Amino acid sequence: MTTAAPEVEERTEATAQKPADVFVVFGITGDLAKVMTFHSLYRLEQRGLLDCPIVGVAVDDWTVDQLKERARESIQGTGESIDEKVFDRFTDRLSYVSGDFGDDATYERVTQAIDGSQTPVFYLEIPPFLFGRVVKGLSDQGLTKTGRVVVEKPFGHDLASARELADELHQYLDESQLYRIDHYLGKMGLEEILYLRFANSMLEPLWSRNYLESVQITMAEDFGVEDRGHFYDPVGALRDVVVNHLMQVVAASAMEVPSRRGPELIKNAQVSLFHAVADADPAHYVRGQYDGYLDIDGVDSASTTETYAALRLEIENWRWAGVPFFIRTGKRLPATQTELRLVFKHAPQLGFQLRHGPPEPNQLVVKLDPSPGIRLVLDAHRADRAGTAAIELDMEFAEEGGEGPTPYEVLLHAAMVGDSTRFTRQDGVEETWRIMQPLLDEPPPVHAYAPGSWGPKEANALVAGHGRWHEPWIAS
Ligand code: BG6
Repeated sequence: MTTAAPEVEERTEATAQKPADVFVVFGITGDLAKVMTFHSLYRLEQRGLLDCPIVGVAVDDWTVDQLKERARESIQGTGESIDEKVFDRFTDRLSYVSGDFGDDATYERVTQAIDGSQTPVFYLEIPPFLFGRVVKGLSDQGLTKTGRVVVEKPFGHDLASARELADELHQYLDESQLYRIDHYLGKMGLEEILYLRFANSMLEPLWSRNYLESVQITMAEDFGVEDRGHFYDPVGALRDVVVNHLMQVVAASAMEVPSRRGPELIKNAQVSLFHAVADADPAHYVRGQYDGYLDIDGVDSASTTETYAALRLEIENWRWAGVPFFIRTGKRLPATQTELRLVFKHAPQLGFQLRHGPPEPNQLVVKLDPSPGIRLVLDAHRADRAGTAAIELDMEFAEEGGEGPTPYEVLLHAAMVGDSTRFTRQDGVEETWRIMQPLLDEPPPVHAYAPGSWGPKEANALVAGHGRWHEPWIAS
């Protein structure tokens, strides 16, 4: 892992845990703020979880009234109906600094706007090539001594660039001050996977090579790249969601129980799992591109970027040796659904079962998106059929607990209070790039698939010898 410059090494975890006394959003006039940030901050206000001023910074020459108007449109645009009292409380916190991120005068104005702040939190929802410039501008003004900096994905586009970016930021910030967002870490489901595994002693032993044949992780989306062609085409599915979001699902599914509470110990357990994952093998990687992708605005007409990725990972440790983890994701698939599925070993030959072949393997499904839930697939003698068949025991968590906060509410609040548990650490980021790097270096050819299908048929060969891809559990 890259180390910090000596002058920033002394900033301790204690500083990291002081609550924000101002929240500064770089890029507040951009798209992410419109779709996510205003809505999340408003909902935090509604739940009484916001208690500091908010300063927006962007190049646009806006007044604070224009910013408030944007906030209103953005919140309404998400379908939320506005409670005017909450909205007024929220917008009373807002102020705005206009300026070019390459201009030193911008940081002087930011300094004036947050005058006296001891623990500012800077949220950079701006393109990554600007992270270094902005952090330097803040550091030159002495603003990074005790603050925190939250950065949006992507953190690098391969192992080398992730290291370079960290080296650049570590000139001004200690790793403990750097909060990298992976919004999958803000989802209810991941915490639930860990909790389910380790809080239930009847489940915990099942998550291992003693019982499992394979593990399948599916992140399916029924929509396409639409108006994101310029962003998506240089990126592709592997970089967009596998190396980050789905590797977080792998970690929560496969890591050992953290030895104690505390962000660093949880991250140690995650990173230790990543260390055990072998470099991915291009021979076990299938790429797909949906028909029609090349016509999208911003996409190169000869593009070979994948909109579908399926791969096999091996975890070389005592718990998981010999249990392949199959991961697949794609755009324009038949449904929007993310799940983790444990596929159990087949029962041996049943001497007493006369009429049918071997039963389906048992499966334990943890549904993460759009709503969390758990399903157990068992084989049983059913009264309504002439014989045995699979039965499904389902539980939608929302039926028990109600609607939870959105990932961005969780993450922005955690950044404000200084809880880094749900943010990625540089050694983990480097490990996930290390695992995927062979696939980036030697990408196999891309196969066409029809929109609305489950991806290219070539992906079936990936699971050969381990049953088949299971269609995800889609809640009715
Ligand atoms: C984003 C990707 O990070 O995650 C998108 O850039 C993807 O391509 C999205 O659709 C999925 O996240 P969620 O929370 O909407 O399932």
